[in-house]
Amino acid sequence: MSSGGQREQWATRIGFIFAAVGSAVGLGNIWRFPFQVGQEGGAAFLVIYLLFIVLIGFPAMLIEFVVGRHTERNPVGALQEIGAGAWRYVGWIFIATGFVILSYYSVVAGWTIRYTLLGLQDDYIADAAEAEAQFVTLASGLDAIFLHAIFMVAVIAIVAYGIERGIELAVKVMIPAIIVIMLGLAVYVATLEGASEAYSYYLSPEWGVIAAEWQSILPAAAGQAFFTLSLGMGVMITYASYLGEDRNLAEDSAIIIGFDTAIAFVTGLIVFPVLFTAGVAPGDPGAGAIFVSLAAAFGDLTFGWLIGAIFFATVAIAALSSAISLMEVVVSYAIDELDLDRVTATLAIGGAIFLLGIPSAYDLVLLDLFDLFADQILLVLGGLLLAILVSWSLSTLAIEELERGIGDLGSLGTAWIWAVRIPVVLVLVVALVLGILDYYEFLSGDFAAWLEE
Ligand code: TRP
Repeated sequence: MSSGGQREQWATRIGFIFAAVGSAVGLGNIWRFPFQVGQEGGAAFLVIYLLFIVLIGFPAMLIEFVVGRHTERNPVGALQEIGAGAWRYVGWIFIATGFVILSYYSVVAGWTIRYTLLGLQDDYIADAAEAEAQFVTLASGLDAIFLHAIFMVAVIAIVAYGIERGIELAVKVMIPAIIVIMLGLAVYVATLEGASEAYSYYLSPEWGVIAAEWQSILPAAAGQAFFTLSLGMGVMITYASYLGEDRNLAEDSAIIIGFDTAIAFVTGLIVFPVLFTAGVAPGDPGAGAIFVSLAAAFGDLTFGWLIGAIFFATVAIAALSSAISLMEVVVSYAIDELDLDRVTATLAIGGAIFLLGIPSAYDLVLLDLFDLFADQILLVLGGLLLAILVSWSLSTLAIEELERGIGDLGSLGTAWIWAVRIPVVLVLVVALVLGILDYYEFLSGDFAAWLEE
């Protein structure tokens, strides 16, 4: 524990919930989710994803919450307290993951700032090939490094102010703004000509797709469920460690998950009508997909520049409220374990993360190198180890902690633990194996080719 005395706390219940929603709602909802739906078969993917949110995401979020509230420590300290032997070091994976994810997350967030500005300058290009070329020019190089720097400065500024005056205050403004703007955009795009075609693509599942492509749909949906809820990296451990009182953690989780899922869902209601109206295919793969196809679509619409600027600005805000949670994981560690004061810790860590992000801002292949490694390997590995440890050897502690603030759970507590022991663990093992294979393919394919150049 820090020598500075009392640990910081959230001032209000809504502050904690908004901060967790702010962490969850981010590029994962607005950038990743629609292109996953596009790639993995439309509405059929949506159904599987929703199923995984409830069956996997909910029990896994509760695991992180009980660990955080029980230990009142950062993820490294928390795991040292509850783990024995090698388990004591699992927290380090979380810190490393946070470091790596934020380094490139900030680069992508920089693109959202760039695309907001493009809209304001009426510079979206309707021609798909030209829009792609525009993206490639903007996504890497000095320009991208500069915007990455600007974004990191914003993250540092908020986190340096601390839990109550920094993070809590910022999310109380950002979350309502995101909700209102997204709903407004969804209503507006409902008037577009391609809207009804888009809704049927998005909302009426073709079940045959699941039978034919379950091998790729299942891991993609599970990975997305984890990423979008900010699980696997100790964010929810850290945020719950600042909870003073005995809240009903199950209720809070349900609210947080409900908001996150609603915003992802509404994003689909915005993105697909825009794409269908402009005649752009929803399924283009790759990190740039949603930037290229949306910008091209916005370039085609009347008032597209304005809708686009509002949309991308909202994405930038959502990315900021997630980025502060990634940063807070590392900062809480430095404050608790290294005895640094908050401002020093934030500046030092923020500076280091900025430097680590420069390669990602320099070349898209390097961004993929970081993204795939963190997202498909580190994140899943951390989540898996935590799930195994808590559900198999600390189940009594976990159930008791969950019951604080709820009361006797009876057999529901056991049901929760078993949902983690088998389904969550199984899904994560499969996701990890597939993730490693995929990474190997990337290293020997795209990355090897890049090295040769
Ligand atoms: N959940 C955020 C999103 O959807 C991203 C994120 C923030 C995250 N913190 C995380 C993902 C921790 C995994 C782990 O964009």
